[in-house]
Amino acid sequence: MDKVRKAVFPVAGLGTRFLPATKASPKEMLPVVDKPLIQYAVEEAISAGCDQLIFITGRGKRAIADHFDVSYELEIELERKGKKALLEQVRAVLPSHVSTIVLRQPYPLGLGHAVLMAKPVVGNEPFAVLLADDLMLADEPVLTQMVHQYEHYQAGILGVEEIPLEHSSRYGVVEARNWDENIYQVSRIVEKPRPEEAPSNLGVVGRYILPARIFHFLEKTQSGAGGEIQLTDAIAALLGERQVLAYRFQGQRFDCGDKLGYLQATMTFARLHPEIGPAFTEYLQQICQDQKMGE
Ligand code: G1P
Repeated sequence: MDKVRKAVFPVAGLGTRFLPATKASPKEMLPVVDKPLIQYAVEEAISAGCDQLIFITGRGKRAIADHFDVSYELEIELERKGKKALLEQVRAVLPSHVSTIVLRQPYPLGLGHAVLMAKPVVGNEPFAVLLADDLMLADEPVLTQMVHQYEHYQAGILGVEEIPLEHSSRYGVVEARNWDENIYQVSRIVEKPRPEEAPSNLGVVGRYILPARIFHFLEKTQSGAGGEIQLTDAIAALLGERQVLAYRFQGQRFDCGDKLGYLQATMTFARLHPEIGPAFTEYLQQICQDQKMGE
């Protein structure tokens, strides 16, 4: 069985929901406490066993490639000042057994098109796709949970969660039959349906494990919802040929492409942070108390 070693990070999106913050810097570099979103996704992929990271970038996204490159001047400076702990943190951003490849998507033609750009590098192996603005909090990293399911069932795996039906037009939504604990056989998938057209309340989150065969279908996929080439439509076509499973992951997802989701993530991760967690929690309690007294 082929192991999932390659992880694709589509990071060419314009981040319009976060303008003007994302006018000149990528949304994937927005920090949650002290790490950019893309680093959380990369850490999740590495802990799931991926050692080849493929970034599909676009104009104005150089900061992402730089973040995972050696910062020679910074390292020299930290070393000179004896800041060992910080130096370790900077060096640990990319472990030595992991390699990165940066590909450019020349036009923002959609998620499906971005994933297709990875075809020459992925070759004939199964691979993971991680959307960095979906930030996951879980005891066992979500992609690791999905790799276990992939190894067990030998099928494409889509990470899903239950969504409020009125939010269906933000997600790919699956029609699926419960098969095993938290595992569903997908019979249909629709990109961003209106609530009255949604086949269920299981929405796809930004975590996928896909067979290389998906590229065959991506090459044939015409533009769909929002005029973009959708990964969801290629998965729909793949369903005619292969089994695809939806996996309801254990954990919590924060939609950090959205201001409210991003702030909720920041609050939650700040409270759990080993350095500032206790002081931040105290501060929050204080705010709540002050507010109550003011009422
Ligand atoms: C993308 C996918 C969608 C999926 C979502 C998860 O949409 O097209 O199917 O449910 O990610 O975050 P986007 O959020 O990029 O519009």
